[in-house]
Amino acid sequence: MALYQRKDIRDNLEDSIFGSRDSEIRMPKYRFPKTESDPKVILEVLKDELFLDGNARQNLATFCQTFEEQEVHEIMDLSINKNMIDKDEYPQTAAIEERCVHMIADLWHAPESKNTVGTSTVGSSEACMLGGLAMYWRWREKREKEGKDTSRPNLVTGPVQVCWEKFCRYWDIELREVPMERESLAMTPGTMLEHIDENTIGVVATFGLTFTGKYEPVKALCDALDQLSGEKGIDLDLHVDAASGGFLAPFCAPDIPWDFQNPRVKSISASGHKFGLAPLGCGWVLWRDRGDLPKRLVFHVNYLGGDMAVFQLNFSRPAGQVISQYYEFLRLGYEGYRKIHMNCYRTAQYLAASIEKTGLFDILYDANPEKGIPALAWALKKDAKVNFNLYDFADKLRSRGWQVPAYSLPKDAQDVVVQRILVRQGFGLDMAELFMEDFRRTLTFFEGHEVVTPLTQREAGGFNHAG
Ligand SMILES: Cc1ncc(COP(=O)(O)O)c(C=O)c1O
Repeated sequence: MALYQRKDIRDNLEDSIFGSRDSEIRMPKYRFPKTESDPKVILEVLKDELFLDGNARQNLATFCQTFEEQEVHEIMDLSINKNMIDKDEYPQTAAIEERCVHMIADLWHAPESKNTVGTSTVGSSEACMLGGLAMYWRWREKREKEGKDTSRPNLVTGPVQVCWEKFCRYWDIELREVPMERESLAMTPGTMLEHIDENTIGVVATFGLTFTGKYEPVKALCDALDQLSGEKGIDLDLHVDAASGGFLAPFCAPDIPWDFQNPRVKSISASGHKFGLAPLGCGWVLWRDRGDLPKRLVFHVNYLGGDMAVFQLNFSRPAGQVISQYYEFLRLGYEGYRKIHMNCYRTAQYLAASIEKTGLFDILYDANPEKGIPALAWALKKDAKVNFNLYDFADKLRSRGWQVPAYSLPKDAQDVVVQRILVRQGFGLDMAELFMEDFRRTLTFFEGHEVVTPLTQREAGGFNHAG
């Protein structure tokens, strides 16, 4: 899809990007080049152009990995030509994917008596789409068997990532996103029940909310659904969107009963490329039992002359991310994941304490492993005597390369503007101290430079990954 209109770009067709170093080079931007060029020159020019991007390691907005060991680069290089869908040509890669599914099933307490199935995906969005689709089909098949209406499906969720809005829009399902309770800043059993009716296909709980980092209370939501089933006969499944928490809680808060330990949890999705520590382009979705994945959604490809079932939106897909995921599992094990993630929690806690010490901000979430992911979120105190808003603050921090998004919370709490930091491997205490120096420098700057026209969310342009 063309994102730019031709008429808007025609004026820029002749832009030169080199000028000072090699004035003979002009990078074609909108017209297909007629001739070949020297690969070294093109590589250099491209590298230079990429300097204009933000520095990924200073991107404190993203949940995704921005640090990889050298071995991962080697694996990605080795597998650049492997297609994940070609199970017959690359049977060992297919076997590695299967091993990952088994290992994740183990991590998420899949019941041994069940036939847990799963697949790798491009990321959590595809994984959520597949989990949601299976849930929708199960609900529809059940209703059709009972001779009931299936024309007005709805999905009940807390404050979800945009992938669930997409899911609902693409499949024509009403999204019933419960408004954010000010106290809990998440869906509670009470608010969930208020939104359910007989057309509800199921519930999505987010284990690591995009807006604050907090975990939604999966067990309490399941208990409330049990009660609803007993009282009204409405029997609903739950999908856990554990994009971040799925590879955190098993190592750092193993006692939280958020996963397949709850019989109502029929599917779970997570991003391998977030706290699974795989490079970008890796997600996972697992179903409690083969029976929870409707047969008609499954397609079949060749595998060693035989047949392998697949359920994915894409056909061709790079395999390196999945092989790297397996590398990380073997390389780190339970202990390694725990060490890396606990260091992230400690760094985030240091940041939360330091920001609170300034006396100007309320900390909304402070990276407690029992409550959420290694992130922190804060808002300006109501009575803070300052002459800037958080959008101005985010904008000024960018002048030192730090990307720290500021955004308003969803429905019912939209007047609360927050700023959030995600701590991932590669952002340790040393970097955090340097960040805090810039944070305090920014406060001092605003003491001397009053903001005359405050920025808006749109102008500050911070991307919060909620969509
Ligand atoms: C809760 C949640 N679900 C889904 C997604 C989408 O994940 P991905 O970027 O892997 O598609 C995100 C991304 O931040 C998320 O936080």
